[in-house]
Amino acid sequence: MVWTAALFFIVVPLVNSEDYCYDEPQCDPYAWGDMYPSCHPLLEELHSPINLDHQMTRNQSLEYLHLEGFDEIQTGHWTLKNNGHSVVMEVGGGMSVSGGGLPDVYHTIQLHFHWGGPASNGSEHTVDGRRYPMEMHIVNMKSIHPNLTAALDDPTGLAVLGFFIDVVYADNVHFGLISQKLSSVAYKGQTTKIKPFPLMNLLPKHNMSQYYRYYGSLTTPPCSQVVVWTLYEVPVYISWSQLAQFTSQIFSTEEDAEQVTPLQRNFRHIHSTFGRKVSVSKDAKLLAGAAGLPLSSALSLLQIILLGSFIISGL
Ligand SMILES: *[C@@H]1O[C@H](CO)[C@@H](O)[C@H](O)[C@H]1NC(C)=O
Ligand SMILES: *[C@@H]1O[C@H](CO)[C@@H](O)[C@H](O)[C@H]1NC(C)=O
Ligand SMILES: *[C@@H]1O[C@H](CO)[C@@H](O)[C@H](O)[C@H]1NC(C)=O
Ligand SMILES: *[C@@H]1O[C@H](CO)[C@@H](O)[C@H](O)[C@H]1NC(C)=O
Ligand SMILES: [Zn+2]
Repeated sequence: MVWTAALFFIVVPLVNSEDYCYDEPQCDPYAWGDMYPSCHPLLEELHSPINLDHQMTRNQSLEYLHLEGFDEIQTGHWTLKNNGHSVVMEVGGGMSVSGGGLPDVYHTIQLHFHWGGPASNGSEHTVDGRRYPMEMHIVNMKSIHPNLTAALDDPTGLAVLGFFIDVVYADNVHFGLISQKLSSVAYKGQTTKIKPFPLMNLLPKHNMSQYYRYYGSLTTPPCSQVVVWTLYEVPVYISWSQLAQFTSQIFSTEEDAEQVTPLQRNFRHIHSTFGRKVSVSKDAKLLAGAAGLPLSSALSLLQIILLGSFIISGL
């Protein structure tokens, strides 16, 4: 009986952790490989994210990507969803990306975010070892594929556009169209509708020819090594309060869960490039001055306030 009881306690947590997570040792990014073998970062493999440093190669043929439909207001509605790992906005049809050295046309499927905590940054890629507060990923699937399963079998099946998100004091009104809806998707499984808007409004539109390019993987299970990454050099700027809506008001648990867990630090650890070539577009300025604004005392004060409000709301 003692053995049965012991087994019971050991087995139950394992059964509950079928899903991957970011915050518990048995299901966090270092354990993903146990459940998803392709997440094991074996030697010579092409995993993401990576650190971007000065070991990059300029490629003069990497110019603007063609972002079809990004300037238009799409018909229908978009769906914002909390899937327990991120907040995802599914954008339906009508948009695609091509050019800029991409091997084909890719249809835009969704965008989602990675963030840190009330007092820590959470971009997935780092620049000279520095993490930005957030990172946004616009996920695009090669148009010849009928579904994601097929795309995950193609070494260049997906093209992800990554944007660093940094903070300033002013709200970003376009970003507000998403952040204002976050309270409707606070808990895992919740969805809400968003009225389409020109996606370009969210992007650093004057600096879209400045980017880095490398071949890597999904940063979530099954970590498929099928992604052509384009990381834009110039970040998107949002306000402190817009950032705080992600770091303290989104939960990885369902609304009726016994224990409510905030969704924080939903980024995968940095992987080695193993000598992979990381290219720099013709116009990129190569990281010089890519660091953000000096934000010292204001930051720590705000963090204390945020932490305080988070503790209160968590009770
Ligand atoms: C530059 O990028 C183009 C488009 O991706 C590629 O075909 C070419 O091989 C690259 N050149 C070098 C020197 O890497
Ligand atoms: C976090 O982001 C802030 C704002 O951009 C920046 O000032 C700070 O250096 C970053 N911290 C780390 C540890 O990268
Ligand atoms: C995905 O597309 C492939 C290739 O056409 C097809 O064989 C497969 O059945 C499709 N899978 C699903 C889940 O629809
Ligand atoms: C963004 O683009 C503008 C216009 O080309 C340029 O003047 C500016 O220096 C760029 N910003 C950065 C940070 O590279
Ligand atoms: Zn992502």
